[in-house]
Amino acid sequence: MTDVRFDDRVVVITGAGNGLGRTYALEMGKRGAKVVVNDLGGSAFGDGADKAAADVVVDEIKAGGGEAVANYDSVTDGDKIVQTAMDSFGKIDVVINNAGILRDKTFHKMEERDWDLIYDVHVRGAFKVSHAAWPYMRDQNYGRMIFTASAAGIYGNFGQTNYAMAKLGLHGMSQTLALEGRSKNIMVNTIAPIAGSRLTETVMPQQLVDALKPDFIMPLVVKLCDENSQETGGLYEVGAGFIGKVRWERSKGHSFSVSQGFNAEDVNDAWDEIVDFTDADHPSSIAEANKPLIKNLKS
Ligand SMILES: NC(=O)c1ccc[n+]([C@@H]2O[C@H](COP(=O)([O-])OP(=O)(O)OC[C@H]3O[C@@H](n4cnc5c(N)ncnc54)[C@H](O)[C@@H]3O)[C@@H](O)[C@H]2O)c1
Repeated sequence: MTDVRFDDRVVVITGAGNGLGRTYALEMGKRGAKVVVNDLGGSAFGDGADKAAADVVVDEIKAGGGEAVANYDSVTDGDKIVQTAMDSFGKIDVVINNAGILRDKTFHKMEERDWDLIYDVHVRGAFKVSHAAWPYMRDQNYGRMIFTASAAGIYGNFGQTNYAMAKLGLHGMSQTLALEGRSKNIMVNTIAPIAGSRLTETVMPQQLVDALKPDFIMPLVVKLCDENSQETGGLYEVGAGFIGKVRWERSKGHSFSVSQGFNAEDVNDAWDEIVDFTDADHPSSIAEANKPLIKNLKS
């Protein structure tokens, strides 16, 4: 098996001053990448700023013999982060959208600011960085991009309506970018990690925080960013040494006669069939998903 190397590759990692991003940055540096270590250096809840977060990681990469430069902008100014890559290294090959914060509150207590801040950092931030990097990747016919979702987005999580919305939104963004990027050799994937970090230490016992090492997330991210990887459009749950792929499942369902019409009582009568997942389908595109619907129209 060939080594996964990033020699001459320029890798931008957002939120790389702590937790998962820091782990990716150190590993990419060891594997030959020129790393842009972005971090605003604020609190886990999105307040404040501190250059030290990015600086410390840059120093660590350099101490290990790697190349790295710091960027202190918020991801909401993503174009500036990409500009740092261009100014320092002249290109951009990999974007790892990782920066994140939490503003957990049950929905009835949530204020607009909690909603907007989560949207701004996770969704708008990933958009701004990716949108600024995209033309360069298209022009050079090469790119690798990672988005960071969460099990909270896939399954829902009490107290996280804002975060769940943002995290599954990122997967939607990445699925469409995977379609738009494929012909230009830009591969785009999403991970839903679970790891001990300052984000999770508020909700997990310390023993679990210590056991769920960010090092267990990093190998998948490195693999998906490898120039030899053709994987794109995937969503992976990863943590504690486990890596699995997630896909959509849809029941065979029930097709009503559109010429005869149908009402709520008919839906009630067919309910068991509608929600029965025996022999379920796994559509992986809109065309595949729409096939039985179009067929029913014609029948
Ligand atoms: N740790 C987990 O179990 C877990 C689970 C699901 C998803 N995630 C996601 O993984 C990512 C990394 O989280 P982590 O657990 O390593 O947290 P972390 O707090 O250790 O690291 C996140 C980093 O992002 C930076 N950041 C925050 N807002 C920023 C902004 N506007 N601009 C630039 N940088 C900013 C922070 O300063 C911090 O260094 C986040 O997107 C998080 O939502 C983590």
